[in-house]
Amino acid sequence: RAMAIVKEFEEKCGTPVGKLRQVADAMTVEMHAGLASEGGSKLKMLISYVDNLPTGNEKGLFYALDLGGTNFRVLRVQLGGPGKHIIHQEFDEVAIPQHLMTGSSDELFDFIAAALAKFVATESEGFHPAPGRQRELGFTFSFPVRQLSISSGTLIKWTKGFNIEDAVGEDVVGELTKAMEKIGLDMRVSALVNDTIGTLAGGRYCNQDVIAGVILGTGTNAAYVERAHAIPKWHGLLPKSGEMVINMEWGNFRSSHLPLTEYDQALDDESLNPGEQIFEKIISGMYLGDIVRRVLCRMAEEAAFFGDTVPPKLRIPLILRTPDMSAMHHDKSSDLRVVGSKLKDVLEISNTSLKMRKVIVELCDIVASRGARLSAAGIFGILKKLGRDTIRDGEKQKSVIGIDGGLYEHYTEFRTCLESTLKELLGEEVAENVSIEHSNDGSGAGAALLAASHSQYLGVEE
Ligand code: BG6
Ligand code: GLC
Repeated sequence: RAMAIVKEFEEKCGTPVGKLRQVADAMTVEMHAGLASEGGSKLKMLISYVDNLPTGNEKGLFYALDLGGTNFRVLRVQLGGPGKHIIHQEFDEVAIPQHLMTGSSDELFDFIAAALAKFVATESEGFHPAPGRQRELGFTFSFPVRQLSISSGTLIKWTKGFNIEDAVGEDVVGELTKAMEKIGLDMRVSALVNDTIGTLAGGRYCNQDVIAGVILGTGTNAAYVERAHAIPKWHGLLPKSGEMVINMEWGNFRSSHLPLTEYDQALDDESLNPGEQIFEKIISGMYLGDIVRRVLCRMAEEAAFFGDTVPPKLRIPLILRTPDMSAMHHDKSSDLRVVGSKLKDVLEISNTSLKMRKVIVELCDIVASRGARLSAAGIFGILKKLGRDTIRDGEKQKSVIGIDGGLYEHYTEFRTCLESTLKELLGEEVAENVSIEHSNDGSGAGAALLAASHSQYLGVEE
C-alpha cells in the first residue's frame, strides 16, 4: 500500500520532455502577456529601471544590503575601475529573527538599519568615502516590487517566509531611509534591485555573455535582458541601450501543464500565501522538504509505513527542511545511514529498515527531479522568448545564465538534473552555446555595482 502511494505520486509528478516543452511554451505566452499590460498575466514581468548592466569600469566604494534569502547580508565593496574589478569585499551575515519576518515594517527596517550602522562602524582605515560625500548603497530586496525609479519602489506582496502587512504598498527605500535617519546614519540608497537582477548584474560584470539571472534558493525567480521595443507596457523614454532588465517573478507562474498533486494543493492551502507562487512551491528550497514530509505522512497514516502510530513530528509543517532532504538524497552509504540518522534526529523515527530508507530516497528523487526539470523548462522558456533556443543564420551566439541560491549551490542532484534537462530541451548543437554559471553571492556585489552606475557623484572627480 505504501508503495502504491509512492507510485501514484510519481506518476502525477511526471515531467516527460513533451510536458516540459508545453510548460516552456506557456511560460513564453505569459511573458508576452505580462509585458503587454500591467496585470496582463500571472507573470508580473516587472520593469526594473536597469537599462545598463555593469561594464567593468565601475569605480569607488559602495555598500550593499541583501534581504530575502536565508541570511541577511551587509557588504562593502571597493570597485577598482577599468580592468581592476573588485579589489576588496567584506560582509557581515545574520539570520533575520523569525518574529521580525511577520512583525511590523518598523521593526524589520530598524533591525536592518542597526545592522548596517554596526557594519559601517567597523570600517577600517582606507575605506571611507571621499570627504563630504555620502555613503551610497545598493539594496537587494528579494520580493516583488513595483519600481518607481531605479532607487525606489513599492512592495507588491511578500513571498517565502515573510508576511508583514503594514509594509505592503509602501516604498521600501522610504522605509529603510526613515529607519536610517532615526539612528543618524547618513547613507543614500542609489539602487533598489531584486536578487535575480543583482545576480544578473554580478554575472555580467564578470562575463558579458550573461543574459539572465536565476535564483534557486528559499524562493525561485528569474530576470533577463529584454529589448525595450518588446515591452508594450513601457511608456517611458526608450533607453539608449535599447534594453531593459525585467524581473519576471516567475515563482508566481502557473499553468494547467504543471504536474500538481494533492500534496502540493495541501501545502498551498496551509501556506502564508495560498493561491500564490505555485511554481515556487513545487521548485524552491523553502518547500521541497515539506512535500516529501507530506507524502511520508500520508504513507504513515494510510499504510502504517512507520508502524501502528503516525510519528507525531511528521505532522509538523516545514519540520523536514530541504537541506535534510538533500542529505538523505545524497546518501551513498550501503546501509543508508544518513537517511536513518535524519529520520531519527529530525522526525524522531527510529528503527527504519533499509527497504524503507530506499523508498525515502526515491521519494526525494521524485520531488527534486520534478523541481529541477521544471526550472530547466523555465530557463528554456526565456531562451525561447529571446530566440536563443535555435541557431540563427549559423551564428554561434553565446548565452550564459547566472544562477545563485542555496538549492542550486548545495543540492547536487537537483543541479545536475537541471543542467542535463536543459541540454535535453535545447538539443546538443544549441546546448553548446548555452551555459550556466554559478554566480556565487553575486547578487550583493551586483547591487553594489548598480549603486555605482547610478551614483549621484557620477562624472564628478574625487
Ligand atoms: C544569495 C543572494 O546569494 O542568494 C540573495 O545574494 C538571494 O539575495 C539568495 O536571495 C538566495 O539564496 P537562499 O538560498 O539564501 O534563498
Ligand atoms: C521570491 C520573491 C522574488 C525572489 C525569489 C528568490 O520568489 O518573490 O522576488 O527573487 O523569491 O529569492
